Amino acid sequence: MDYSKKLFLVLLSCVALIISYNKVDSLSTTSVVGLNYGLLGDNLPSPSNVIKFYKSQNVAKIRIFEPNKDVLNALRGNREIGVTVGIKNEDLAALAANKDTVKSWFATNIDPYIADVNITFITVGNQAIPGDIYGPHVLPVEKSPDLDQHHGHYHEPSCVETTFHRSFNTPSTPIFVNIYPYYFYASDPKNVPLEYTNFNTDQIVVKDGALKYSNLFDAIFDAFLWAMEKEGVKGLPLVVSETGWPSAGNGGMTTPALQYTYIGNFVKHVASGKGTPKRPNSRIDGYIFETYNENQKPVGIYQHFGLYDPTEPTPMYKLY
Ligand SMILES: *[C@@H]1O[C@H](CO)[C@@H](O)[C@H](O)[C@H]1NC(C)=O
Repeated sequence: MDYSKKLFLVLLSCVALIISYNKVDSLSTTSVVGLNYGLLGDNLPSPSNVIKFYKSQNVAKIRIFEPNKDVLNALRGNREIGVTVGIKNEDLAALAANKDTVKSWFATNIDPYIADVNITFITVGNQAIPGDIYGPHVLPVEKSPDLDQHHGHYHEPSCVETTFHRSFNTPSTPIFVNIYPYYFYASDPKNVPLEYTNFNTDQIVVKDGALKYSNLFDAIFDAFLWAMEKEGVKGLPLVVSETGWPSAGNGGMTTPALQYTYIGNFVKHVASGKGTPKRPNSRIDGYIFETYNENQKPVGIYQHFGLYDPTEPTPMYKLY
């Protein structure tokens, strides 16, 4: 594969250190999907209470958007929770420009925790791609040789080798993608059927050759796989880093009931092990966006993706 193709591939990606597929027996456990844990709220429970909550719900994996000290400290000793830690977009330029910065990023943000915290993935940037501001820095950071050397410190040796040493022709490092059928529905509710966007129908809505789609999530997932294959990359492991539905902010299209339907059906879809039409019988690795409503996000739907409203003593609804 030539350089521009590699670039294209990586520019669409975040990097991850290992993949772990959990065995899941029932829908009652959240170990089937992960949860995103954002911190842009001034009324969120303390990190230690959040981690206690995750443990009480058997949440097997979470994703945080930055290496927040309080959260990582609260995770100490809770190695049953797999943690994806993001490198902030704002840090990418400095990391891309200077290898020593990568070394010190790890020394500051990862090394102090790695013995006690089950850090499974490092993602490079968040929604950096597509985009001209942060996107161009992602590849240089991923290829940083200091990142390679640093991997000796990890507990899981597999996370080391699979990431930066491998060639992109035989991808084993997952690409993280966000999949939001909601936005398609919200932008054209007359033509995009609600049931197709929230997994509420078994009817075939879209046919792509032999592949038949009854939900938009699968169609987006597979479209990404096709796009990667066009670039010469087959068998790409894909992680759905975010999917969700807002519970408010856009009238009747955003209600707790609709959010509940989407999330519940998504969890069922993953738990079924059906995979997607293009990749059948495979466990989709996915993270729900997100745990709590974040009141410091922009006004509107962005404040309402949480499964829980931190101001309410009880969950908006019982999902698990
Ligand atoms: C770390 O997290 C992963 C992903 O959830 C999990 O499969 C693995 O068992 C965890 N490790 C430990 C030591 O519990």
